[in-house]
Amino acid sequence: MFSRIAGTGSYLPKKTLTNNDLAEMVDTSHEWIVERTGIEKRHIAAKSETTCDLAEKAARLAMEMAGKTAADIDLIIVATTTPDLVFPSTACLLQSRLGSTNGSPAFDVQAVCTGFVYALGIADKFIKSGSHKCALVVGAETLSRIVDWTDRNTCVLFGDGAGAVILEASKEAGLLSTHLHADGHYADLLKVGAGLSKNSEILKQGNAFIEMRGNEVFRVAVKTLGRIVDETLAHNQLQKSDVNWLVPHQANIRIIKATAKKLKMSMDHVVVTVDEHGNTSSASIPLALDAAIRDSRIKRGELILLEGFGGGFTWGSALIRF
Ligand code: COA
Repeated sequence: MFSRIAGTGSYLPKKTLTNNDLAEMVDTSHEWIVERTGIEKRHIAAKSETTCDLAEKAARLAMEMAGKTAADIDLIIVATTTPDLVFPSTACLLQSRLGSTNGSPAFDVQAVCTGFVYALGIADKFIKSGSHKCALVVGAETLSRIVDWTDRNTCVLFGDGAGAVILEASKEAGLLSTHLHADGHYADLLKVGAGLSKNSEILKQGNAFIEMRGNEVFRVAVKTLGRIVDETLAHNQLQKSDVNWLVPHQANIRIIKATAKKLKMSMDHVVVTVDEHGNTSSASIPLALDAAIRDSRIKRGELILLEGFGGGFTWGSALIRF
C-alpha cells in the first residue's frame, strides 16, 4: 500500500505588502530585498483572519480537486507554528469547520518551516500501515503575528498563507519516501524566545517575535539541503537527472538556487513562488506545489522532490511520483 496525491489547494490573504511598503516602515529598499532574498511582496492576513481560516480555504480547494467530501477524510494533520489557540489544535478546529463527523484523528505538527514535510511523512506512514485511507494534510501560517515589524533583518522575509494536499491510499507508488531530521543544538539561531512556560510575560505583552541569526541560518540551510538531496536519491536508487521538478521551501532564492545547482537542475524545473509571497513557513511548499499543479507545469507521472528546512533546526524531504 502506498499514498498518492489526489488533490492540492492553496490560499493567500488578499492584502499584500510590497518591498516599497516596507521601505516606509524600516531602513531597507526594494533593491536590497530582491537582491538578497528574491522576495517582491508578501500576503498579510486581515486582523480577523486566523490560521484556521486560511487552512479551511486551502483544504476545501484540495478536497474539490480530489473529489472528496469531509466524510471521505479519515485523518487531518495541520502543520503550523502559529495555531489559532493553545488548544484545541488547529486541526480539530478545521475538522469541525469542514463538518466532519466521522471521529477521524486530527492533530497539529510543529516543525516550523519543515512542518508540511513532517506532516506529509506522518500521513504517509498512517496510510502505508493500512489504518487510514484518505488524509488531509495542511500547512498554514499567520506568521505576520510573530514578526517584529521594526526589525529589518526579519520583517522583510515572512508572509501568511496556506496550502493543502489530499493523500489517498493507492496500489501504485505515489509518495516514494520521506526523510525527516532535526538537530536541536541549533535552537538559538532561529526562534521565538517566549512561550507559555518560558518568558511568558513577553508573550503576554505581545512582544514574542521571530529572532534569527540570518547568515548563520543561511550557511547551515544550504549545506543541509544539499545533503538531503543526496540522501533521498540514494534511498530510492535514483539519479539527479531522474527528478523532473524541485519544489523547495520558499525562504530565499539564493538557497533555492544552491539546491538546484546541487541537483544540476535548470531553474526552469524549480518551482519558485518566493517572489510572490515570501517565506510562509509550513505553507510554502504546498503553496508552490499547488501553483505548479494547477498551471499544469507538473504532470501526472512526473517525479517531484520536495525539501524543507526550518527552526529547530528541522529539515526533510519527500520524493513523489505524481
Ligand atoms: N535591508 C537593508 N539592509 C539589511 C536588511 C534589510 N532588510 N537586513 C539586513 N541588512 C543589512 C545588515 O544589517 C548588514 O549590515 P552591516 O553589514 O552594516 O552590518 C548587511 O545588510 C548584511 O547582512 P547579512 O545578514 O550578512 O545579509 P545576508 O546577505 O546574509 O542576507 C538574509 C540576510 C536574512 C536575507 C539571509 O541571511 C537569509 O536569507 N538567511 C536565511 C534566512 C532564512 O531562510 N530563514 C528561514 C529559514 S526557514
